[in-house]
Amino acid sequence: MTEEIISATNLISLLIEAQGDALRAIKAGGKSPEEFRVQLLGAKSEITRLTKQIGLIPKEDRHKIGPVVTEVKHSIESALSQIEESAISTPSTFVDVTAPGIRPPEGHLHIVTQAIMEVTRIFERIGFTRVRHPEVDWDWYPFESLNMPKNHPARDEWETFFINYPGKPGTNPKKQKIVLTPHTSNGQVREMEKGKLPIRMINIAKCYRRQIDVSHTPMFHQFEGLYIDKDVSIGHLKGVFDYFVKQFFGANRETRLRPFHFQFTEPSFEVDINCGICLGTGLLPDKTPCKLCKAGWLELGGSGMVHPVVLRNGGIDPDTYSGFAFGWGIERTYMMKSGTKLDDIRLLYSNDIRFLEQF
Ligand code: PHE
Repeated sequence: MTEEIISATNLISLLIEAQGDALRAIKAGGKSPEEFRVQLLGAKSEITRLTKQIGLIPKEDRHKIGPVVTEVKHSIESALSQIEESAISTPSTFVDVTAPGIRPPEGHLHIVTQAIMEVTRIFERIGFTRVRHPEVDWDWYPFESLNMPKNHPARDEWETFFINYPGKPGTNPKKQKIVLTPHTSNGQVREMEKGKLPIRMINIAKCYRRQIDVSHTPMFHQFEGLYIDKDVSIGHLKGVFDYFVKQFFGANRETRLRPFHFQFTEPSFEVDINCGICLGTGLLPDKTPCKLCKAGWLELGGSGMVHPVVLRNGGIDPDTYSGFAFGWGIERTYMMKSGTKLDDIRLLYSNDIRFLEQF
């Protein structure tokens, strides 16, 4: 096919004519700016078709066409953006009531609060009642009443914060020094003092110890269980622990009791739970050692049968009644459940929204 040669003047006047048509079309309206853009400047538009004819004019005249094309496109573009701008500044009065709404950002309870609620619910189902006891208390409750006399070396386990209170020597021996409770066991004798039996309490509270590192915060939470009735045995204790871990961690989890020592329980145990990854074997299916637990078991916390001295301090006859107690950390227990490999427990209290939003 032979194309005829056209003159630059001719092409320019065709471009200007197309520009006039385009601007009139925009003014007449009836289409969205986007639709106009396709129709007037797109691959199939008159202007694009004319632009391609630049190859048909004599070489020495071609440089005259570029600036005209630029000017034509620019005028169309600016007519279209004017429509777009006025659409933004005069909002349409039409309200689409069926359009989905915009959700305001929604917060959620802190993970520690969620864990406290879950632990409470699990124990409530077997007849335990959540109670509250002081988090700032006379040192008699977390120590002396629990068979740890003043200056007893066992107290060193609990790196205690003391409140600067001089006491009133010669007055009530139970009201001498005030501490930030280093464990929830202060609730044991306090609960017994209520004078109601049997006791099935779950005391969840803040505890304070002078420790801070990747696995300790100076403030943390414990949940303390206490069950006192006639004929309570280690069998009951084990049964309650197995029930709890199955509810909280999953049906395939179990507990194991390891002999230990506490001044306020006899016998005393550390409670371990079988590892959720290797289920207590210490080995992965390919026979390599489990990386999470080392030997198949993870430590949950302390427990034991309530010591007769403690029962007597709470006004209960140890010849008629017996019971068990346990005290475990909320944060620790929760971290074992979620499988979140938190390598620094302090993250829980750093208030970093990027961390908290993940739960
Ligand atoms: N209070 C103990 C601790 O903080 C745990 C515990 C509670 C042990 C009840 C025995 C009975 O380590």
